[in-house]
Amino acid sequence: MDSDSKIQYGCRICGGRLREWCDFGRQPVSQSFRDPGATDSEFFFRLAVGLCLSCTMVQHVEEVPRSLMFHENYPYRSSGSEFMRRHFEEVARHFLKTELADPGSFAVEIGCNDGIMLRTISEAGVRHLGVDPSRRAVEVAQASGIRVRPEFFEEETAKAIRAAEGPADLIYSANTISHIPYLDSLFRGVSALLSANGVCVFEDRYLGDILGNASFDQIYDEHFYLFSVRSVQAMAVRFGLELVGAERMTVHGGSIRYTLARPGARAPRPEVAELLEQEREQGLDGTEQLQRFSARIEEIRVDLIRLLGELRADGKRVVGYGATAKSATLTNYCGIGTGLVEFVCDSTPGKHGLLTPGMHLPVRPPEAFASPYPDYALLFAWNHAEEIMAKERVFQEQGGKWILYVPKVHVV
Ligand code: SAM
Ligand code: TMP
Ligand code: ZN
Repeated sequence: MDSDSKIQYGCRICGGRLREWCDFGRQPVSQSFRDPGATDSEFFFRLAVGLCLSCTMVQHVEEVPRSLMFHENYPYRSSGSEFMRRHFEEVARHFLKTELADPGSFAVEIGCNDGIMLRTISEAGVRHLGVDPSRRAVEVAQASGIRVRPEFFEEETAKAIRAAEGPADLIYSANTISHIPYLDSLFRGVSALLSANGVCVFEDRYLGDILGNASFDQIYDEHFYLFSVRSVQAMAVRFGLELVGAERMTVHGGSIRYTLARPGARAPRPEVAELLEQEREQGLDGTEQLQRFSARIEEIRVDLIRLLGELRADGKRVVGYGATAKSATLTNYCGIGTGLVEFVCDSTPGKHGLLTPGMHLPVRPPEAFASPYPDYALLFAWNHAEEIMAKERVFQEQGGKWILYVPKVHVV
């Protein structure tokens, strides 16, 4: 782990200088699962994160071209988790009672994927439009009657939507805004599309929880920005909007739902000031916090490799659970290949029969987990721990053990 303070240039939000604070080395595209027979060379980039010394935005120092991540065959399907289906249904029901209560309201979702959230809006007969470039995922949404434009949301897309459909009362996005380096274009689009009293609401992983839980595997190609309330507030001002809401949530290991409005249109809720104060007290934008994080990551790496090595020496079988994007950072940073973990099981059909990026662990369907059960399972999808452990109850009942690695390596 590189804790030297290297001054880089070029914050993607404000142009300020970046102080680099952690470097995970050469990493692949996190959801670029490979055919076992593939002969083409794999794309790698340097995964390193920096803090902007002007606006405090934490961001990658190298950008992966978006076409390599989000394309026709992007394999992630939001609806693979029952917990997340319930979460997004609640989100939609909340909006149907608030921002979308008037007949004729119009909702736009950026990064709607398979329609996990818009399904409820569409079923309620409310005017809506999803925008997402991952065609196969979009087709799943369209098949159930959800309207989607299969493209990237940016300034031009937003202007075209405004011209064709009028202003949006709600622009919503989950786990997508942090994936978009070109936020200047995106927010010019939001400004062009949003109605005078409309809101732009987005959920993303929270820097405070990533640092607090040492969940360094949340850092991978797609998560270009790691948002804090302070950096989002500064970003909103820069792009002509105002941060009026910030709500902490437990999803994906700790996220925040931010609400932006046109300046003066909505009164800021008290949580914004409270969270800003908390961040100041914790020194969230200071290099000291970030350096402690680097030390904890190194401890996790050493402990996990030691544990997996001991289990191998004892002749125990270890299988991975959840071929997550996160596991790309963990496995490639720690060097976890088939010598330590036999295969990974995952419920996403589009990942089966392929190899994980970089470390090439085979991905198998969940049925492979029980035939026969391994001695240990390394839970890559730890953010879905409750759901997965309940589903795989029998594994533990017959003596199997889960290995978790955040906030530190432990076995349950
Ligand atoms: N919102 C869903 C959720 O929370 O489960 C999907 C999140 S998924 C990690 C990110 C999605 O954003 C992908 O489906 C991807 O295709 C989409 N995406 C990436 N860049 C985008 C952009 N500029 N405009 C719209 N969608 C985008
Ligand atoms: P995520 O952490 O980015 O949501 O990815 C979760 C991955 O774990 C995704 O590939 C689906 C997989 N998964 C299972 O295999 N079984 C499950 O029960 C759940 C909830 C997820
Ligand atoms: Zn900046």
